[in-house]
Amino acid sequence: MNLQYDHQHLGALLEATQAAALEFLESLATRPAGRTPQTLPHDLLPEEGLGAQRALSVLRAKYEPLLSASPGPRYLGFVTGGSTPAALAGDWLVSAYDQNVGSDGDSIATTVERETLRLLRALFSLPESFEGAFVSGATQANFVALATARQWAGARLGIDVSEQGLWKVAPLPVLGGSPHASIVKALSMLGMGRQAMEVLPCLPGRMAVDPEALTRRLAALNGAPAIVVASAGEVNTGDFDDLEALAGLCQKYGAWLHVDGAFGLFAACDPARAHLLRGLDAADSIIADGHKWLNVPYDAGFVFTRHLALHQQVFKVSAAYLGDGADLSHRTPEDSRRFRALPAWMTLMAYGRTGYREVVTRCCALAEMLAQGLESSAYFELLAPVRLNIVCFALRGADAVQRNQFLEALKEDGRVLLTPTFFAGKPAMRAAFVNWSTSDQDISLILNALDQCARG
Ligand SMILES: Cc1ncc(COP(=O)(O)O)c(C=O)c1O
Repeated sequence: MNLQYDHQHLGALLEATQAAALEFLESLATRPAGRTPQTLPHDLLPEEGLGAQRALSVLRAKYEPLLSASPGPRYLGFVTGGSTPAALAGDWLVSAYDQNVGSDGDSIATTVERETLRLLRALFSLPESFEGAFVSGATQANFVALATARQWAGARLGIDVSEQGLWKVAPLPVLGGSPHASIVKALSMLGMGRQAMEVLPCLPGRMAVDPEALTRRLAALNGAPAIVVASAGEVNTGDFDDLEALAGLCQKYGAWLHVDGAFGLFAACDPARAHLLRGLDAADSIIADGHKWLNVPYDAGFVFTRHLALHQQVFKVSAAYLGDGADLSHRTPEDSRRFRALPAWMTLMAYGRTGYREVVTRCCALAEMLAQGLESSAYFELLAPVRLNIVCFALRGADAVQRNQFLEALKEDGRVLLTPTFFAGKPAMRAAFVNWSTSDQDISLILNALDQCARG
């Protein structure tokens, strides 16, 4: 039987897998940054099974050539990190170890997860009052944080939402200037409704909320609870809300301050940019992604709150067979969970504070370098100043159709992948730098590709 055979020849299988992985990683420098998916013949469920080696061969022949170079240096779409060597090694071991970190008591794995959260807290210079949890990404982290905020709001009204539901709670306003789409998605998942999100005016030319507009809205609530969602790294431009001002307002009016720092929290790693996060300590909840600037493989994110008791009220799980420990499953939507912290532990231990300072500083310098190149090109216009690691720009005079055609041509060219957006009503595009391996030479390649595709 194939399964027994594969088990007996596991070493050979893992060697073949390692060779495939190495070949893929070595191809990143030349592989097209993005690939347009093709329609391929369906796979038929084999009656007897192919065995792992043949399945691997089929995978490599049929699908691997069409994978994008998304972990590579010039995939600048969305906000896409790669994997550091240590993170990759850790991730492989996650599968080999296959520990369930939902419950304590029979493995040291949960201790490693707690240690990793402490390392992250140190990386971001967060006080010890913040307790964390690993989830699959920033969307899920926002969900966990907002669920905790909802529990807090209920408690202020004398209602335990985790027990009684939302039936007796008046609609809870969520206020922010440029919330990420995942916040709105989380509000839908939480039963609070997408319409609970009130997008307030931003400062002129900025994506940062106008603190005066927020003051007026909070004052009008007359002490009723509200959640303020701050952006520490807005996805189109990398802009930051004034966390210090927002924290002061939340304190004054009794609101919950949530900070979405999916990538921007890593500004804490760069002494020249850490000031962007001034006031962060006073937040009630903070989130960031692992699969962005930490450069661990998908999928990893984390959430920190100063309200562990409320957090655990929401995610508490009880059953006789589960026991009654202080397990990590009381902090996350999942009960059983992979050992997601291990790649983060490996990369933090391998490269430390200095390693991450270098990655963050370099990415920000590369964003500035690209912006300068674009400014001296006749084809492009910069739409916002580079505040961190994101360059938001437009193809001069292009409407949305022409912008899309340009991005398709660029994908076809293969040297760089960018993704579209709209900014201040203009069809725009963004380049987001969070990959540890992007270098100065990539910027010349990218500028050449952009100019060539713009010339047509
Ligand atoms: C500010 C911000 N928040 C949340 C997210 C959602 O992240 P994920 O797709 O990892 O869930 C992103 C993704 O780019 C982001 O930039």
